[in-house]
Amino acid sequence: MEAYECIVSKRDTRAYLDKPLDEEELRKVLQAGRMAGSSKNTQPTRLILFRQRKRLEEVAACAKFSQHLPAAAAAIAICLPSTGSDFDAGRAAQNMMVAAWSMGIASCPCSMHDQECVRKTLGLPEDYRVVVVLALGYPDPKVSMHLGKRRVEMDELVHEERWSG
Ligand SMILES: Cc1cc2nc3c(=O)[nH]c(=O)nc-3n(C[C@H](O)[C@H](O)[C@H](O)COP(=O)(O)O)c2cc1C
Repeated sequence: MEAYECIVSKRDTRAYLDKPLDEEELRKVLQAGRMAGSSKNTQPTRLILFRQRKRLEEVAACAKFSQHLPAAAAAIAICLPSTGSDFDAGRAAQNMMVAAWSMGIASCPCSMHDQECVRKTLGLPEDYRVVVVLALGYPDPKVSMHLGKRRVEMDELVHEERWSG
């Protein structure tokens, strides 16, 4: 898929086929996360790849809006130390989701509302937190790819030169 088409067609998709991810594709997804730039090249982000059903369910139980997580083929927890910037984690996350989509793998982030729960479940070191968990899987063609929410209009999004005046 052409890069621009891949970026603008990516939707956060919550229904997946019961089919394991191709290992080579998964490695490419992780590599896309690894290559994300970071502030001062500090590379603070760490990833936990997990795919055992029980673990997916346990992590889902640490979140409020995680119905899609147990059915994912795999998940990647994006972890940061207390000194790390969410922007760095966000770059790695979007890199991975877009790279995944270029290979036909759908994804949806999942916010972790109970940090103690997810830290314990995934065995994080003391100083780390989970910024977000990415659920990944081949999309189920029988289910709509997204919830149909529109984006803000371009003239509301973009201000030229100054916000006002
Ligand atoms: C930081 C972040 C956290 C999110 N957390 C959740 C979540 O916990 N559960 C969920 O179902 N979707 C979650 N989403 C997905 C958003 O709902 C989604 O990006 C938005 O609805 C746009 O979806 P679309 O790309 O399909 O239009 C999250 C997205 C982001 C960026």
